[in-house]
Amino acid sequence: MGNFNGKVVVVTGGTSGIGLATAQRFVEEGAHVFITGRRQNELDTAVKLIGERVTGVQGDISNLNDLDKLFETVRQEKGHLDILFANAGLGSILPLGHITEEQYQITFDVNVKGTLFTIQKALPLFPDQTGSIILTGSTASTIGDAGFSVYGGTKAALRQMARNWVTD
Ligand SMILES: NC(=O)c1ccc[n+]([C@@H]2O[C@H](COP(=O)([O-])OP(=O)(O)OC[C@H]3O[C@@H](n4cnc5c(N)ncnc54)[C@H](OP(=O)(O)O)[C@@H]3O)[C@@H](O)[C@H]2O)c1
Repeated sequence: MGNFNGKVVVVTGGTSGIGLATAQRFVEEGAHVFITGRRQNELDTAVKLIGERVTGVQGDISNLNDLDKLFETVRQEKGHLDILFANAGLGSILPLGHITEEQYQITFDVNVKGTLFTIQKALPLFPDQTGSIILTGSTASTIGDAGFSVYGGTKAALRQMARNWVTD
């Protein structure tokens, strides 16, 4: 057991990459982790890989009904939340002149709308306004790089919204 014994954690996008590695580490440190992702197969595989103190909840963070389902599951199983890692995100690389409405729509829907409502809908589960909320940003939010404007724009929006949420 470790630094997070008994803590309740949600990791969105916890089925691969940064989210999966973080979920595994939280469990190694004693937490119970709820992980999410859109693809049920990948979710089942990740749950099996993590092995213990893990619950998989399938869902898309840009779908508000899926977020309600996620936090209702946490409420029913654990009653509260200590740590939210709002990590789920995606991106594609298209230079100005080739940007499509579809690219804009899915990137902003998932990275901005999805992360915003993940956090807002989790708030009632934090006891006495204690706990931690962690976002996954990107260097693309501060540096200019060819093809990264839409993705970088979503991460810059998150960085700025977080500054305001801290004061809220
Ligand atoms: N890799 C990098 O170099 C890098 C650098 C800076 C920032 N980031 C950020 O780090 C975060 C994780 O990225 P990663 O590299 O670890 O990516 P990854 O390996 O592709 O993992 C993304 C995770 O998010 C889930 N996901 C994607 N869209 C989702 C949605 N709409 N609703 C719920 N889950 C969703 C994926 O599962 P499903 O596809 O099944 O939904 C998967 O579990 C993202 O926010 C990304 O922008 C990554």
